[in-house]
Amino acid sequence: MSKKPFYITTPIYYPSAKLHIGHAYCTTIADAIARYKRLAGYDVFFLTGSDEHGQKIQRTAEAEGVTPLEYVDRIVAGFQELWHQLNISNDDFLRTSELRHQKVVQEFFRRIRDRGDIYKGEYTGLYCTQCESYWTELQLDEHGCGPDCHRPIEKVSEEAYFFKMSKYADKILKHIEDNPEFIVPTSRRNEMINFIKQGLEDLCVSRTSFDWGIPVPDDEKHVIYVWFDAVINYITPLFKDEETFKKFWPADIHLVGKEIVRFHSIIWPCMLMAMDLPLPKQIYGHGWLIVEGDKMSKSKGNVVDPMLLIEEFGADAIRYFLLREITLGQDGGFSRDALINRINADLANDLGNLLHRTLNMINKFQSGVVLETVGESEIDKSFKADAMQTVAEYKKLMDNIQLSEAIKKTWAFVSRANKYIDETMPWKLAKEEEQKQTLANTLYNLVESLRIISILIAPFMPTTAQKIYGQLNLDNFAEIQIEDVDKFGLFPVDHKINKPQQLFPRIEVK
Ligand code: MSP
Repeated sequence: MSKKPFYITTPIYYPSAKLHIGHAYCTTIADAIARYKRLAGYDVFFLTGSDEHGQKIQRTAEAEGVTPLEYVDRIVAGFQELWHQLNISNDDFLRTSELRHQKVVQEFFRRIRDRGDIYKGEYTGLYCTQCESYWTELQLDEHGCGPDCHRPIEKVSEEAYFFKMSKYADKILKHIEDNPEFIVPTSRRNEMINFIKQGLEDLCVSRTSFDWGIPVPDDEKHVIYVWFDAVINYITPLFKDEETFKKFWPADIHLVGKEIVRFHSIIWPCMLMAMDLPLPKQIYGHGWLIVEGDKMSKSKGNVVDPMLLIEEFGADAIRYFLLREITLGQDGGFSRDALINRINADLANDLGNLLHRTLNMINKFQSGVVLETVGESEIDKSFKADAMQTVAEYKKLMDNIQLSEAIKKTWAFVSRANKYIDETMPWKLAKEEEQKQTLANTLYNLVESLRIISILIAPFMPTTAQKIYGQLNLDNFAEIQIEDVDKFGLFPVDHKINKPQQLFPRIEVK
């Protein structure tokens, strides 16, 4: 039977700034979802990339005395290295400067213009180079600066092409209202409904004041507006062949930061409507990573470099923190202290101890061999029921992309397993010959719970999951499926496990 397709995207990142941990947050969420879907048997396509055009890039490159392409080549190599270090399992990386993308963008432009939904006019407006966005007077902040980045804006006037977005206002509003799952969470959906109800104006989709962009077909003094160009990245890789397109479009989720939901849930769908293409199934607007009460961003000078964090604590600890600490859809605080607390309490203590104690006891009391169970006590019964209950709730939460809640559920079971050790006291059982079978049962249940836990954490901490699997001496990690946790008792008997090795060292706080 062919697998069900699942297509997830992150925004494509601007190469104008060094990526910070806020950017890594978005990519990590998408990666955890993609990995879970793969476990659940889907044929996953996970796309990320870089958004390389626009005036800001051109100016930065000029200031550095290099061409825009030389500039982006260097920065984008850094992005790719970061995603590699963070264990991001994207299936493709799209750069908007690639020829495959340019062709698709020009085709979109040409077709929409041919049907009369792109026309030529004159644009005078307030433009923020920082955000590559036009704003109206009313949208500016109290200092007359851009409402998002609070930087000075410029008045520009130029001949330009316009996309007739106003024509699609009723249709997109109806789509949003009829499909509550189209924009999530509801707060973002309500914002978009209000935004459209204030009236959708036609969108200026070309520029003549610089040339680092995709040329307008048959009118090359214009380049295509960077957002018109950028959103098309989501469809470019699918035009590889008809089968890929049919399989993966429409996308299941565009995961984006809350400040760019408008581009994804209004402008992009209107463009797709003008192309007679189906709309993505869901736009998920996640919250921001906040440092001391402010959004982490380069302009605020409060960025945390993810590479340094990964070097210091390891990718899995960072992934765990981002996914556990912040409820998807809401803002969440980042601090070094909070990160260290989580590593020490949840990873070194709870998970690390469970693994270490269990493997140590099997090595000590049963020469490292997991033995068959015979019979069960009331404590065993309730422990196994808790395991199965955890799995059922975890799946529901993951299907609903409530990642933080799914992690909390898993950790509640990690604690439960540690408590099971305290309740059953295997070291006491080991002293009495007639308790041999009870000891074997207890240690089996523990090692089986570790097998289950390692699968549940695989989407969040793939390296740690694999390490646990290795210490359990199980060797088919690449083939695990979520069904492998549907039943308690699949751990092989008469199976020799390995010596325990520390997963996460405790971090000493000076
Ligand atoms: N290039 C556009 C996206 C085009 S998609 C067709 C862009 N790039 S960005 O580099 O500025 O941001 C990329 C993503 O990172 C956005 O979803 C943004 O919300 C996210 N984040 C940037 N700073 C962030 C935090 N401090 N916290 C969480 N996410 C953050 O926008």
